Amino acid sequence: MKELIIKNLHVSVEDKEILKGVNLTIKPHETLALVGQNGHGKSTLLAAIMGNPKYKITEGSITLDGEDVLKMTVDERSKKGIFLGMQYPSEVPGVVNADFLKAAINARRDTPIKLFEFYRSLESASKKMNISMDMSQRFLNEGFSGGEKKRNEILQMLLLKPDLAMLDEIDSGLDVDALVSVSDAIKEMQETTQMSFIVISHYARLYHLIKPTHVAVMINGKIALEGGFEIIDKIDRQGYEWIKYELGIEISKEDKTMNQVSIGACATKEVLKK
Ligand SMILES: Nc1ncnc2c1ncn2[C@@H]1O[C@H](COP(=O)(O)OP(=O)(O)OP(=O)(O)O)[C@@H](O)[C@H]1O
Ligand SMILES: [Mg+2]
Repeated sequence: MKELIIKNLHVSVEDKEILKGVNLTIKPHETLALVGQNGHGKSTLLAAIMGNPKYKITEGSITLDGEDVLKMTVDERSKKGIFLGMQYPSEVPGVVNADFLKAAINARRDTPIKLFEFYRSLESASKKMNISMDMSQRFLNEGFSGGEKKRNEILQMLLLKPDLAMLDEIDSGLDVDALVSVSDAIKEMQETTQMSFIVISHYARLYHLIKPTHVAVMINGKIALEGGFEIIDKIDRQGYEWIKYELGIEISKEDKTMNQVSIGACATKEVLKK
């Protein structure tokens, strides 16, 4: 049961201020959809929560059940139950996927997991994500396809069982069947645990599958608008311009690519109908 509270968070990268006063609260069992145009600071927020040293916190606070997250090292944040499924997972040659997963599990336990128990969990999670067991013997993410990397992030989430999972464009690069596997894994955790999620996506199709409890729109490094699912539907139909007009906000970035309907949305609907 963890509550994450972000207050007036300002974050700079390479002396440029990206986040300009973010306020957000994520309670246990909530799923927050974090949306916004390219380059407005969504991944920066997740990097700051996880503790990426490139991102300097210049003002504000992040607390997890009242504890100061900003004082914690990255591994402490992970042990406290925060997990980041990255937008661009790194390739780590020389580190075997299964060894990495086992080390990550053991870092959170007092006694090491028994080999048999580990392989049983790995097998079960791999089956859910449709990942062959051979992949666990390859180096972490090295040569993995885009979709395989994303499925491997969810595999990690299933094994680590975090309290707060932050999933950054977890649906990018996934084929239609993989999208269903990923969303099924998220749905199972939503239904059977008190876990909370922050889910970034540019596509309504993922949100239709996992049904966020609330939605936040990031514009120019601030949360400009919060509300329910109707925001996602409206953005999917109309893009972001209406927010600018309705709230009187000037959107500085010009990228309007999120406004486009993706072919995957239709294909997914066909799979779900079966
Ligand atoms: N390590 C970095 N070095 C330099 N600039 C950075 C770095 N990380 C982020 N930025 C800049 O900060 C801004 C916000 O980037 P961020 O990745 O948070 O956007 P985003 O909302 O996640 O966009 P997208 O939807 O395209 O993933 C961008 O202008 C980006 O170029
Ligand atoms: Mg991003």
